[in-house]
Amino acid sequence: MRLRLGREQHDRKSSAELGPGHQTANATESDRLPAIEVRGLEKSYGGVPAVAGIDLTIRPGEIFALLGPNGAGKTTTVEILEGYRTRDRGEVTVLGYDPGPDRTQMKAHIGIVLQSTAVEQYLTVAETLTMYAEMFPHPRPVDEVIGLVGLTDKRDARVIQLSGGLQRRLDMAIALIGDPQLLFLDEPTTGFDPSARHEAWDVIKDLAALGKTVFLTTHYMDEAQYLADRVAVIAGGRIVAEGPPSTLGHRERSTARVRFRLPAGSTPPSDFRAPPGSDGFVEIAVDEAVSDVHRLLHWAVEEGVELEGFEVKRPSLEDVYLSLTDNRSDADEPGGAGGSS
Ligand SMILES: Nc1ncnc2c1ncn2[C@@H]1O[C@H](COP(=O)(O)OP(=O)(O)OP(=O)(O)O)[C@@H](O)[C@H]1O
Ligand SMILES: [Mg+2]
Repeated sequence: MRLRLGREQHDRKSSAELGPGHQTANATESDRLPAIEVRGLEKSYGGVPAVAGIDLTIRPGEIFALLGPNGAGKTTTVEILEGYRTRDRGEVTVLGYDPGPDRTQMKAHIGIVLQSTAVEQYLTVAETLTMYAEMFPHPRPVDEVIGLVGLTDKRDARVIQLSGGLQRRLDMAIALIGDPQLLFLDEPTTGFDPSARHEAWDVIKDLAALGKTVFLTTHYMDEAQYLADRVAVIAGGRIVAEGPPSTLGHRERSTARVRFRLPAGSTPPSDFRAPPGSDGFVEIAVDEAVSDVHRLLHWAVEEGVELEGFEVKRPSLEDVYLSLTDNRSDADEPGGAGGSS
C-alpha cells in the first residue's frame, strides 16, 4: 500500500484552486499561509460546552494529531473544520475558506474520514469509489486509489462483504479519491489489525511527503508518535498541551531511569544499589544519563557481570498523555455528566 504519486501531480494545483486565502501567484507565499487556523473556537450542545475556546494553527504539509479522552471534543472540532457542524463562536479558516459559508467551494479540496461512515452496503468497492469520484473536479483514478489502500483483491466485493477493518480502508479510499489538498482523519485506523495499521501509516506519511496536510484524531499513542509532526491534547474542550510528540510535556528533559537485573552476589557501584522489585529488576533514576550509564556499563564489563534486560527509559508519549489527562475523566468535562462550568 505505497503511494506512487508524481511530484508533478501535486504541483499542478494552481493557486486559484486553493481558495481565497491562497490566491497569490507566488507559491511560496501561499505555502506559508496556515492550512488551518482556529481562534477562540467554542461549541456547546444544549448549553453544555463541548469545545470551550481553542486555538490551533496547522501549517501546509504538516501531519497534526489531536489526542484526547472520549468526549473531549475531538470530533466536534474536526466536524466544525469540515463544515459538518456549526460553531457558536470563534474564527476558523481552512485552506483560506470559512467552512461555514464556504463549505461548497472548500469541499473540492478536502478529503474526509469520519469517525463512523455509512456507505451503500450493496455497491462494490469500485462502484462506491466511482460514485464519489464524480463529485470532484480532479479525482484520482479509482483503481489507483483501490491499490493505495490495499483493496485490490476486494475491488468487486460488495461493501456488506467487507470486514470492519476493510470497510475502514474503503473510508480512507473515499477520502483520497478527490485528490485532496487537506485530509481530515477521525480515528482512521480504529479496527485495523497491526499490519494494516502500519500500511495505513505509510499511506499517510507518503501523502504528507507530497505536501498534503493531514489533520487526524487518534487514541493510539504509537500512531501519534510515528505520524505526527505536532500533536495537541484536548481535554474537557480545552487544549492542555501542544508540541512535537518527542517533546510534549518536556518529556525529553525528564529524568531517565535505568532498569536491569543482576546475578546473585554481584555488587554494583553504590548509587546503582536498590532493592529489586518482585520481578527481580532494579529501577533507578539517573540525573546524568550518559555518564551515569557509562559508569554502570563500565563496571559491568570490567567485572564480567551480565545486566539482564538492561534498558534506559524516559516517559513515553502515553505516560505524558496519561498525566495530562489523568484528573480529567469524563465526569469532569464540561460536556460530561458532572459538567461544572
Ligand atoms: N450531537 C451532539 N449532541 C449533543 N452532545 C454532543 C453531540 N456531539 C457530541 N456531544 C457531546 O460533546 C462532547 C464532545 O464530544 P465529541 O464527540 O466531540 O468527543 P470526542 O473527543 O470525539 O470523543 P471520542 O474519543 O469518544 O470520539 C461529549 O460530551 C459529547 O457527549
Ligand atoms: Mg470522536
